Amino acid sequence: MMTVEPSKLADVYFNFYPNEILPLWTNPCNNKRHLEIWSGQKTCKRLPHLIVVGPQKTGTTALYTFLNLHPQIKSNFQSNKTFEEVQFFTDKNYVNGIDWYMNHFPFPPSESTILFEKSANYFTEAKAPLQIHTLLPDTKIICILINPSQRAYSWYQHAQSHKDEAALKHSFYDVITATNSSSDVHNLRNKCLLPGLYTSHLNKWKTHFNNSQLLIVDGENLVEDPISEMEKVQNFLKLQDKLDYSKLLKYNTKKGFFCPVTNGGKLKCLGSGKGRKYSPMDDKSKDFLKHFYKNSIEDLNDFLTNHGYSKPGWLIKEINDMN
Ligand code: A3P
Repeated sequence: MMTVEPSKLADVYFNFYPNEILPLWTNPCNNKRHLEIWSGQKTCKRLPHLIVVGPQKTGTTALYTFLNLHPQIKSNFQSNKTFEEVQFFTDKNYVNGIDWYMNHFPFPPSESTILFEKSANYFTEAKAPLQIHTLLPDTKIICILINPSQRAYSWYQHAQSHKDEAALKHSFYDVITATNSSSDVHNLRNKCLLPGLYTSHLNKWKTHFNNSQLLIVDGENLVEDPISEMEKVQNFLKLQDKLDYSKLLKYNTKKGFFCPVTNGGKLKCLGSGKGRKYSPMDDKSKDFLKHFYKNSIEDLNDFLTNHGYSKPGWLIKEINDMN
């Protein structure tokens, strides 16, 4: 019998099966044989039951903060690099393996604790739905959607305040209409526009998660009426003790948003990077985006109808404006 050294054999194998270069982590606790060789020191309890997947700029930090107010819900630990986000299901961190992921979570203090994380870039990560489902087949997923035009504008404002050269040099209109595909400005255009093509991304999530696992939060209602939106979230999570968020969140006129009430009765609003003050979008950009997202808005409307989801108020308004 002839063979070669393992690394050469691996090269041959991965030449045949390039899609398998990246491992696909399964849950050791869902497989009897894996569980038998899993160290006695380890537990699968440090894995999330809920993941808020984004997309970015839709109110994901607000939802993360509001969820953490519930004593039955516990988030991951903060990271030095990515702050409240773990960002495990991305090409960069997925290779670190599930021990790395589990180390980001506390040991749940009770059986009824719901561990969760939010990483707003998962929404557009092509492999994330499959990777999450393979490791955590029973986990619940929350996506937050706002009007995609507003999301694009919010991303542009975010890029400007992070001193992104393209955002500083070019107007919003120039960015969203950029055509030179190799330029930095086109890169920024894609970050503004592409996550807002919601249905193309949602279809991938829906392949792996059913209605009882996938909730779509109305991000605009989360701003206007977080009390009612958090009621929907709590129902979705089937929480034993539902909280009355009207006691936990109060509107702050200076911030222009609802903020958590601290034990001392003061308001602790989200940081200055969330709920920025900027001028309203210009009419030319509004018109361009209305046209750009027209089909996508119709697709989203069909998607929600076909899958039996209720529709966000901003979507109903967009559809009515089209007719
Ligand atoms: P703007 O800063 O453009 O207004 P994310 O956390 O996903 O990055 O989303 C940021 C957006 O969350 C903010 O965008 C803001 O509109 C929205 N948001 C929703 N509820 C908020 C709250 N209670 N406080 C601050 N921002 C909130």
